[in-house]
Amino acid sequence: MSKDSLTITDNRTGKTYEVPITYGTYERDGASIRSADLRQIKVQDEDFGLMGYDPAYLNTASCKSSVTYIDGDKGILRYRGYPIEQLAEKSTYLETAYLLLNGELPSSNELEGWEQTIASHGMIHESIRNFLDGFRWGSHTMGMLVSVLGAKSTFYPDARNMSSQELMELHISRLVSKVATVAAFCYRHSRGLPYIYPDASLGFAENFLNMLFNTPNTKYEPNPALVKALEVLFILHADHEQNCSASTMRGIGSSLADPYSATAGAAGALYGPLHGGANEAVLVMLQEIGDVKNVPEYIERVKRREVLLQGFGHRVYKNYDPRASIIKETADEVFEVTGRNPLIDIAKELERIALEDDFFVSRKLYPNVDFYSGIIYQAMGLPVDMYPVLFAIPRTAGWLAQWKEMMNDDEQKIARPRQVYTGYDTRDYVTMGDR
Ligand code: SDX
Repeated sequence: MSKDSLTITDNRTGKTYEVPITYGTYERDGASIRSADLRQIKVQDEDFGLMGYDPAYLNTASCKSSVTYIDGDKGILRYRGYPIEQLAEKSTYLETAYLLLNGELPSSNELEGWEQTIASHGMIHESIRNFLDGFRWGSHTMGMLVSVLGAKSTFYPDARNMSSQELMELHISRLVSKVATVAAFCYRHSRGLPYIYPDASLGFAENFLNMLFNTPNTKYEPNPALVKALEVLFILHADHEQNCSASTMRGIGSSLADPYSATAGAAGALYGPLHGGANEAVLVMLQEIGDVKNVPEYIERVKRREVLLQGFGHRVYKNYDPRASIIKETADEVFEVTGRNPLIDIAKELERIALEDDFFVSRKLYPNVDFYSGIIYQAMGLPVDMYPVLFAIPRTAGWLAQWKEMMNDDEQKIARPRQVYTGYDTRDYVTMGDR
């Protein structure tokens, strides 16, 4: 009998079954069985067969992927095998996006062509401004982004045509580029500011800062240290394997909906405070705490389960999120330009106490990517509602890398989980007089 198998005995029938175990790159955390192999386990022939019940997919692999690898116990994150620490130090966001989307680092010609392609797609249809004008002044910019991304599918007659790799690449290039323009326009509208159009002569991060902060009556030159910091933040946020929003992207894409609608759906998932909306929730929390002296009381409220420690904990990382470490270091570089954001002192005190307190240690709760990022964004002059938007911009490359992989995966079909039904057995309609 092969060692790479399970022998299952169904005690209801005494029958035994052998189910093969397969592996991905690593045996350590890639061993799996096909859930469909459980269907053969029945009592009666007419039974549906055994399912795996796994609410929130705590232990379910929905796909095979070669895009991103996380080792939650060791705090490892790699994009296509490259450690996030090396990419953050040596790469740029667009080069990292190319790596995620194509599987390899680009040559200098490939990178130059990719950068030119992205720069060429920066403009958005003028009538998008009419959409934006429909939003109330001060509307949450992430809600605006989700809406406009969905609307983008109506601007391209070929939006629903994914019949060739070339067309898929066109959709990908449009979205990677335009998500930044739409994001900046959302910010400008919500603050009553005139739109600043994309400048194809600028790099991705520099162009985004220019669209955010330039004004018609001044000459805005983003500080190179802030440009570099934003590049690093974009690299760190670009992908994270099968997180909630990436799974949503795959799920929507699996019905062959267009990638613009799928990206809008993924952004909707990211908006949640348990996911990408946490960076906004962290700032709200820090502002509510207000002073380092109030940290112990807040920690006690967390332990009484009255509140969450926003930006802490992770479904996969049971060690320090490697991105949080890099972001924490980046904060100091940003503060040299912007001045120190005093909220970081509260954040560091929260981390210091939490990492010594058994409530957090026993639950393996560590700072995640969202714990320090908002502090940087605030120091850059951005309001809290923009922080999930800053997350969505680079994550669009990761969502599209996951979408592209799913579209090219012969094993993938429309996503349609089963359920364990716990409702009524059949019953007859009751007329109003008899209720
Ligand atoms: C992101 O999946 C990804 O990769 C996501 C992401 C990405 O790049 O795509 O990394 C980005 O979304 C990061 C996470 C951002 N969210 C937050 O910071 C919100 C605060 N964190 C928690 O809500 C929570 O930690 C989650 C949602 C992140 C993870 O939740 P899980 O895996 O479902 O864990 P859980 O809720 O079952 O918690 C286990 C225990 C529980 O205590 P017990 O009931 O077992 O006693 O830990 C406690 C929880 O109450 N707990 C927390 C806590 N997080 C977990 N208690 C206080 N504060 C927290 N933040």
